[in-house]
Amino acid sequence: MDQRQLGPFKVSAIGLGCMSLSHAYGTPPPREQAERVLLGALDAGYTFFDTAAVYGVGHNETLVGEVLKHRRDEFVLASKCGLTNGDQRELNGRPEVLKATCEGSLRRLQTDVIDLYYLHRWDKRVPIEESVGALAELVAEGKIKTIGLSEVSAATLRRAHAVHPIAALQTEYSPWTRNPEIAVLDACRELGVTFVAFSPVGRGFLAGGVSDLAQLEDGDFRKGMPRFQGEAFAANLRMFGGFAELARETGCTPAQLCLAWLLQKETTQVPIPGTTNPDHMVENARAAEIRLSPEVMAKVEELVNPQTVTGPRYAPAMQASVDTED
Ligand SMILES: NC(=O)c1ccc[n+]([C@@H]2O[C@H](COP(=O)([O-])OP(=O)(O)OC[C@H]3O[C@@H](n4cnc5c(N)ncnc54)[C@H](OP(=O)(O)O)[C@@H]3O)[C@@H](O)[C@H]2O)c1
Repeated sequence: MDQRQLGPFKVSAIGLGCMSLSHAYGTPPPREQAERVLLGALDAGYTFFDTAAVYGVGHNETLVGEVLKHRRDEFVLASKCGLTNGDQRELNGRPEVLKATCEGSLRRLQTDVIDLYYLHRWDKRVPIEESVGALAELVAEGKIKTIGLSEVSAATLRRAHAVHPIAALQTEYSPWTRNPEIAVLDACRELGVTFVAFSPVGRGFLAGGVSDLAQLEDGDFRKGMPRFQGEAFAANLRMFGGFAELARETGCTPAQLCLAWLLQKETTQVPIPGTTNPDHMVENARAAEIRLSPEVMAKVEELVNPQTVTGPRYAPAMQASVDTED
């Protein structure tokens, strides 16, 4: 796979989001299937894996650690701190909490050092300088190699970057969520921070993975998201019809169209699609080989944009925890 620069690392142009291997979108896959995704990803050329302490309340890091520990030198490992209390997703950016979480992450991931450790959300009760200062101390202690931020505004990124260089900023970005285009992508480019696009295939929707709301199980995060509700979902499905047709005409799948669009739209970013399906994992990796014409790039944006998408990306409670220019 093509490589992109992330801080001092070269990483595959598409990384693997590991979240749904333990929770988030319904029943997690059986262990054997999760192993096939993780180990198969290394064989398919992924060298960048994304997890977080809060995913599955530690289970996601444990899974990644157990399955990949023997091949630890083959990939760049990213995890996150700052969200505690499991599924309650409580924000806590106090230095001592971040440091304690890091000890747990190192143990669960069965590694001596985490390559990229993100502050998962900015806890606004704590100045960003203090939270990033704690992560800088973890760098100095050799427990993490670089620092990332997730879901912060351009202004917060600048404040943090003044304390310690930030290697990566992770935020949702896909044809149907364009918020980073307001200011964050410009700030990343200017500061030399790699942009990491999470939920790059619209949590499955833009991959054609959700065609009926009845298929979402209890406990699936998407059930609480405005774009996956009644009328909004129906309107988004109609919009998706055109996008799927464009993918067919382009000779790729809808998921590949999303990923190829992202890679070409911003050449310093790394999307991290998540999947529980080994075939989807390979299909997504192949998107790095696709080159879209200017006409197809423009058509993607004409079909899927803030005017054609119905509903905000988060419900108000989730939105309250982010610090983006939404
Ligand atoms: N920083 C943050 O706050 C934050 C928030 C959310 C996510 N993330 C990170 O970003 C990663 C990816 O985000 P995400 O999982 O929310 O969203 P996503 O990657 O946009 O979508 C994942 C969904 O898409 C489906 N999918 C993936 N590839 C497909 C394909 N080729 N064909 C059909 N369906 C496909 C998957 O279903 P199958 O399993 O059936 O393939 C899964 O349900 C996560 O794993 C996590 O590491 C970070």
